[in-house]
Amino acid sequence: MPKKILVIGNGGRENAIIEALSISPQNPEIYNFGNALNPGIKKLSKKVIVGDYMNLDEVKKVAQEIAPDFAIVGPDDPIGIGATDVLLEMGIKSFSPTKKCAQLESSKSFTRNLCEKHDIPGQPQYLVSTDVSNSAEREKFYKKLEGQIVIKADGLLGGKGVLVAGEHFQSFQEVEDFALKSIEKFGRVVFEEKFIGEEFSLISIVDGTTVLDCPAIQDHKRAFEGDMGPNTGGMGCISDEHHALPFLTQEDLNQAHQITVQTMKAVKAETSEDFVGIMYGGFMVTKFGVKLIEYNARFGDPEALNILPILETDFVAVCEKAIEGKLSDIGTLKFKPVATVVKYLCPEGYPANSVKNKPIKIIDPSKIKNCYFASVSLEDNQLMLKGSRAIGILGTGKNLAEALADCNEKIKNFSGPLFHRKDIGTEALIDKRMQHMQKIRS
Ligand code: AMP
Ligand code: GLY
Repeated sequence: MPKKILVIGNGGRENAIIEALSISPQNPEIYNFGNALNPGIKKLSKKVIVGDYMNLDEVKKVAQEIAPDFAIVGPDDPIGIGATDVLLEMGIKSFSPTKKCAQLESSKSFTRNLCEKHDIPGQPQYLVSTDVSNSAEREKFYKKLEGQIVIKADGLLGGKGVLVAGEHFQSFQEVEDFALKSIEKFGRVVFEEKFIGEEFSLISIVDGTTVLDCPAIQDHKRAFEGDMGPNTGGMGCISDEHHALPFLTQEDLNQAHQITVQTMKAVKAETSEDFVGIMYGGFMVTKFGVKLIEYNARFGDPEALNILPILETDFVAVCEKAIEGKLSDIGTLKFKPVATVVKYLCPEGYPANSVKNKPIKIIDPSKIKNCYFASVSLEDNQLMLKGSRAIGILGTGKNLAEALADCNEKIKNFSGPLFHRKDIGTEALIDKRMQHMQKIRS
């Protein structure tokens, strides 16, 4: 009997997760529960159920019907409201953290307080403020750091919960307006020191005792070339042939790894639960070493598209070992020795005024290897734009230049009202990052 795996979520990330499962030598049967019919996922799944995965009764019903050997919850929202817990209560194991463990992503104050309590390096000076009337404590913190702060709403806001000094606000009044809204909505707001440096993501697969790192990646969050425009879920990501980034040292990666190991242990100490699944550390390498920006409790999107297609270790076995708490049996994760460049094709006008419900064309359908479908749907055999990031395209090569050329070639296979960031993965942008880092370190 083939193993049955239920994957919840229907974006590019879940398309990549399902592809990685589908090439397992164990030939599992894959079932998908998503909010829409993803054509990339449909091709690889035995059955796709469309419904509302934010409704935990629906999750339960689907899980009951399929009775999978294990599940994977892909997106942060269902993880944050306890989809894993519901599955576990039914006796279904899941490669995703419980609601308690996932506070690492869903609550910025949880993570900062946890890291401080356990003396974990890489933390900023910070303040958790809970009292709307205590403007004085917030202003004191703002002044102490000469306004060089970042403010974070204490809950999931789909990437809109963080304001950075110099980019999003100039005065304490603007800070205070946002702080009051966050306290009203979530009961708390977090103020923290603003770090200066280069950001990178280190995604690790964890089981509560073992941490296995994936390649380090840099995401490009701004919508437009030259890192201009509003923040998005991520326009594209790069990782070099050493599974690192040209501006990072091995010591930087070691520091990030150690922060994740210590944080995983702290979560266990605090919640008495093993964190099973993905700890995605957003880090910044600064003059004073590696600093923790935030944790996510799931694969990044598009980061999953850089990682999973080049994973050589059987992903089904990795998930099962993590669930059993025996991830150490895997040793290390093996990845193809290639560089990766991923870019998202987005509808014109994204993110503020996206073109929607317009068709896009695949010029040669036989050439869509390493293309991952996200906010598109198949309607009357026509691929339609649904308004958010549409198709993630992975290029690989023996170095970043070749990976970029491969990605650009694959992009030519799509036509329609689409755009992508042409500067991601270019020598010019990578040189800019290297020079920035040299300046910071000197
Ligand atoms: P997100 O939480 O992913 O919406 O994004 C937050 C973004 O804000 C990060 O990608 C950083 O660019 C920035 N950020 C968050 N915390 C800090 C910090 N302490 N110092 C500097 N930048 C930060
Ligand atoms: N690409 C950023 C994220 O998935 O959070």
